[in-house]
Amino acid sequence: MGLVSAACLAKLGHQVVCVDINEQRIATLMQGECPIHEKELPQLLKEQLESGHLLFTTNLLDAIEHATIQMITVGTPGLPDDQADLSQIFALTTQIAQHADRDMLVVIKSTVPVGTGHDIEKHMNDALLRTDKPHRIDVISNPEFLCEGNAIHDFLHADRIIIGGDLQRITPIIAVYQTLVDRGVPIQCMSRVSAELTKYAANAMLACKISFINQISQIADKIGANMDEVQAGMSSDHRIGSHFLQVGMGYGGSCFPKDVRALAKKAKVLQVDSCLLDAINNVNNLQKKWAIDRLLQHFKNQLQGLTIGIWGLAFKPGTDDIREASSIVVMNALLQYGTQLRVYDPVAMSNARLCLGDNHAITWCDSADDVLFDHVDALVIDTAWDLFKNYSLDRLREELGMAPIMDGCNCFDLSEIRQAGIGYYYSVGRPIEGVVAEL
Ligand code: UDX
Repeated sequence: MGLVSAACLAKLGHQVVCVDINEQRIATLMQGECPIHEKELPQLLKEQLESGHLLFTTNLLDAIEHATIQMITVGTPGLPDDQADLSQIFALTTQIAQHADRDMLVVIKSTVPVGTGHDIEKHMNDALLRTDKPHRIDVISNPEFLCEGNAIHDFLHADRIIIGGDLQRITPIIAVYQTLVDRGVPIQCMSRVSAELTKYAANAMLACKISFINQISQIADKIGANMDEVQAGMSSDHRIGSHFLQVGMGYGGSCFPKDVRALAKKAKVLQVDSCLLDAINNVNNLQKKWAIDRLLQHFKNQLQGLTIGIWGLAFKPGTDDIREASSIVVMNALLQYGTQLRVYDPVAMSNARLCLGDNHAITWCDSADDVLFDHVDALVIDTAWDLFKNYSLDRLREELGMAPIMDGCNCFDLSEIRQAGIGYYYSVGRPIEGVVAEL
């Protein structure tokens, strides 16, 4: 989010100084290389580096001295007790306060629990008071709603820009986005605490839709309904709409899982019953076991010694991010059951290798074909990459024979599966196709 915001702000004509404590990453960026897989980002970075609008440094003072606005985009990962870890944000704002030599505007883009803006503003101004500095720091909330894989487009064509803070102080932040506002992007100004809550509420609402439809798919599985039909029927109601009603193996990524848990935690701290937020999370955890449950059912609980192919590791297509991906849950469980794995993802292999470590039970394959090249007893599809969706079903039938496909992304039409004569095909919330249906 930091890198995308920086590159987009540079594109809007601003001078942007990017600071990171990771020297390796800054060195990579200075050479014009993009360290993450994100559509259009490498080109935009290159352009903005060449234009001189974008600078990279590990020296925080460069940013503090040269910038009129300090934007904070550091991570706020989940702690074991579900609270957001604010150590990075407090460490950074402490340093900004130490070096502040004038009144400053600090903009928090990181997702932070409701009330954090207030705490940080107090923390920074207390530090100024202690050192007798006559300055004042205002903290503004400006949450981001970027989706990985489409982040540049989301930034430049946002549904809305939210700015939370004292109306007298936020004018310079509104000016930052003026070009987008002129192009018709609505800007919504509100209190800082409302802006903070809006971010969590938006993420929790989208996660809620996903868990809701996944729970309905569990019912569909039991009674033989087809979620393609149910979704079409539901989506036709304009009050419901069609977005975020795609069934699957649960939501992953760096935001939904941790933000829903953090909001539930905050509710509990505030003595608000968090039963709905807890349910969103619980349904998601259950859904991540979808493929395992199907494999256990298919192989009558005997998974030991089987070889399972895995297509897709990223938490969704278009990214190399594997944080909270269902693939990791599936692979860890399968390893526990004593299976061998043959895995492939077009971009997330190195992140997955880092996460899972060297394990002789995992074969890291070179392609989707390579996964099937050696015998596999079943194929699990974990990420809906086009590469998999467009894979020849004739070829799948030839390679797999009677080995089942556990399609956690509903990549294929049931009619095409039927036509291709696939042996066993399990998908989410749709009737089982193939020989097993006739048993
Ligand atoms: C999300 C929010 O959409 C974005 O606004 C916020 O800024 C960051 O978190 P992101 O994590 O990039 O963005 O991914 P998103 O496209 O929202 O998908 C999140 C997860 O939900 C993925 O695992 C995806 O596969 C899953 N999903 C999404 C579904 O299972 N069904 C759907 O219908 C949509």
